[in-house]
Amino acid sequence: MIKTILSATGEPIFHLTAGDASYVISVFHGFLLHLYAGPAISDDDVEYLLVRVGHDSVVPRPAHTPEGWFSCDIAPFEYPAYGSGDFRPSAVMAKMLTNDQIDGTVEITGGAPTTAVMYESHEILAGKPILDTCPAIHAADDECATLVLHCTDPATALKYDLYYTVMRDYPAVCRRTVIKNTSKNTSATLLRAYSASLDFTTVDPQAELVHLWGTWGRERHMERTPLLHGSMSVNSRRGASSHYHNPFAALVTSKTTEESGMAVGMSLIYSGNFDITADVDAFGLTRLMAGISPDGFEWHLDPGAQFVTPEAVIVLSGEGLGKMSRVYHKLYRKHLCRGEWADRERPILVNNWEATYFNFDDEKLVAIAEDAAKCGIEMLVMDDGWFGIRNDDRSSLGDWFVNEDKIRCGLGKLVEKVNALGLKFGIWFEPEMISPVSKLYEAHPEWALKTTGRPMSISRSQYVLDMTREDVRDYLFDTISGVLSSANIEYVKWDFNRNLTEAGSALLPAERGGEIFHRYVLGLYDLLDRLTTAFPHILLEGCSSGGGRFDPAMLYYSPQFWTSDDTDAMERLDIQLGTSFVYPASSMSCHVSASPNHQTGRVTSFVTRGNVAMAGAFGYELDLTKLTDDEKDLIRKQTADYHRYYDIINRGDLYRLILPTDNYNGKTGKCASWMYVSEDKSEALFTFVVIRTSVHPVYFVKLRGLDPNAIYVDQTTGKEYHGDTLMNAGLNLTKNYRDGDSVVIHLIKK
Ligand code: GLA
Repeated sequence: MIKTILSATGEPIFHLTAGDASYVISVFHGFLLHLYAGPAISDDDVEYLLVRVGHDSVVPRPAHTPEGWFSCDIAPFEYPAYGSGDFRPSAVMAKMLTNDQIDGTVEITGGAPTTAVMYESHEILAGKPILDTCPAIHAADDECATLVLHCTDPATALKYDLYYTVMRDYPAVCRRTVIKNTSKNTSATLLRAYSASLDFTTVDPQAELVHLWGTWGRERHMERTPLLHGSMSVNSRRGASSHYHNPFAALVTSKTTEESGMAVGMSLIYSGNFDITADVDAFGLTRLMAGISPDGFEWHLDPGAQFVTPEAVIVLSGEGLGKMSRVYHKLYRKHLCRGEWADRERPILVNNWEATYFNFDDEKLVAIAEDAAKCGIEMLVMDDGWFGIRNDDRSSLGDWFVNEDKIRCGLGKLVEKVNALGLKFGIWFEPEMISPVSKLYEAHPEWALKTTGRPMSISRSQYVLDMTREDVRDYLFDTISGVLSSANIEYVKWDFNRNLTEAGSALLPAERGGEIFHRYVLGLYDLLDRLTTAFPHILLEGCSSGGGRFDPAMLYYSPQFWTSDDTDAMERLDIQLGTSFVYPASSMSCHVSASPNHQTGRVTSFVTRGNVAMAGAFGYELDLTKLTDDEKDLIRKQTADYHRYYDIINRGDLYRLILPTDNYNGKTGKCASWMYVSEDKSEALFTFVVIRTSVHPVYFVKLRGLDPNAIYVDQTTGKEYHGDTLMNAGLNLTKNYRDGDSVVIHLIKK
């Protein structure tokens, strides 16, 4: 997987082979240069790819390189450092805090953030070392190999170890950086410390960026935009990865489609402030970098201390965005999600939030569970409002004690009743929050994040707990564990409903003020780790006002995430298909809710609501006691279908056929379509949804991913098709549809 040769300068060239992709790095006069990333290539020495435009007054030459073409300002760097002639955005910027001597020989400059990252030596390891800070990809020793490039800044005591884990079966390279202050007496400060940077040498001049933007109720809409000269950044400064941008972007060419062309994905396994920047320089060279956002970030490194960046996962596809997504799906399902539920079939749940909001009691929950049991639903989830004195969203967060005015029979008894009906029981928490109106706030106002001397902004009537504090995490661990141990609870929905403002901690020393956001995230991971270790049987579902923290790091702890508070099936098409650019179906929680929909008022048929929700971890979010017998019959059919199709949808390959943003044919109504194909291509499930119809619309859809030579049988009509016919000629779906109609076709190989 990792091959090393020597270049013309006698320095190493590393050719990393990840699945069917190559990633080539060379050392050039000590600089670490990026030579290639993309579909596999056979040559190792591809230094000829370097752009050699002569340096002049605006493109400086480093002092130690020979006269000639080389300049830091055009060199493609693996980990670009600030201040020595690469004027593009830098991945790392650091300063030592005082003038000092290293080993009595070299003088170092205090205060100036000029930084250098120069190759010293390397190691090639079987497997992937555990660096134990943030969540990361895991794989067995024979499934991957790791190249560690040991680098140094010759003028300071800072050392940089660049980790590249190459996956054997996936075109994926996982990157992290460890920065060490090896000085015995001088502190250092990190001002930028990205996880990975990729400089493209051979990209199409018309580079485009694919990313996922959104807001509350409209998360992860895919946007594809040409890159112009200058920088474009998707980021978060909200303390969470957020609804607004996802920690993901892909660089594609103007000709890349779902099925063909280059697509390089950059996905950051991180839940806090992040930045992904794409920068196009004057020569058309593109840099794509990902890491913790430098805004407000300042990390103090004591003598001997080290900083480990989160991990960035680069996926290299030469067959379009579709393949890139399928690689992320499988990689994240098998090598990121952990624990008993990582790849296990998820129970079909009913959640009482949109059924009752805060207005429920034990009897109402049991009534819902009784109907659920008759329809094939397997779990009841009790959402917000069961604790403290919480009858609206203005109080009690932090008071994780059962409200026995609502749950009159007690939690243990309620769970027993639900279990007796054959259902599992799940419960909602919002651990990281504190209401000003709560017993917890009365006892510990200092546990809320705040900046001394500044008023605290309020959001959804709540403050955020200082997760950097061990006493806060201990309190949460003890109270949450107490509830989870008191009854047979098999699922937890972990919510997070506001972003961080005036973030400061009473316990952090002044020089560490710039560490608060990252320390918050590390505190969150610590608590998640403790709870998932103590309760390994519990299925954890992440949530953040819908999908406001739907990121890879949260999937490490919670293999499914509430995709959006917008449960409208038509809106969910954009949200779910956007989410599918990175995240597997098994990670997307999708529920059938009431019609008219509570968020949009739109009326959609029960069948279509089911067909759309079937694209993820399936469930219901409505008052089952108010449904008609016909609707309950449909639930029985949908729950049976979910089990029948589970493997194809959740463990098969996804093909996006028509995105809602593609105006189909440019002339007829708007629609969306996608399909899953089982790994062995023996089955496929095709879905087509009409978003907005028109008069006499004409719809043809070409299928993908099938075995061209096999015969597939439509399980509803019995009609037989060859795979090549379905893929090249397609299906004729022309019919007079109404808005919101949908078609599902299950194909089985004969
Ligand atoms: C958030 C979640 C919802 C629900 C409410 C409860 O908005 O996304 O699903 O749990 O909180 O307050």
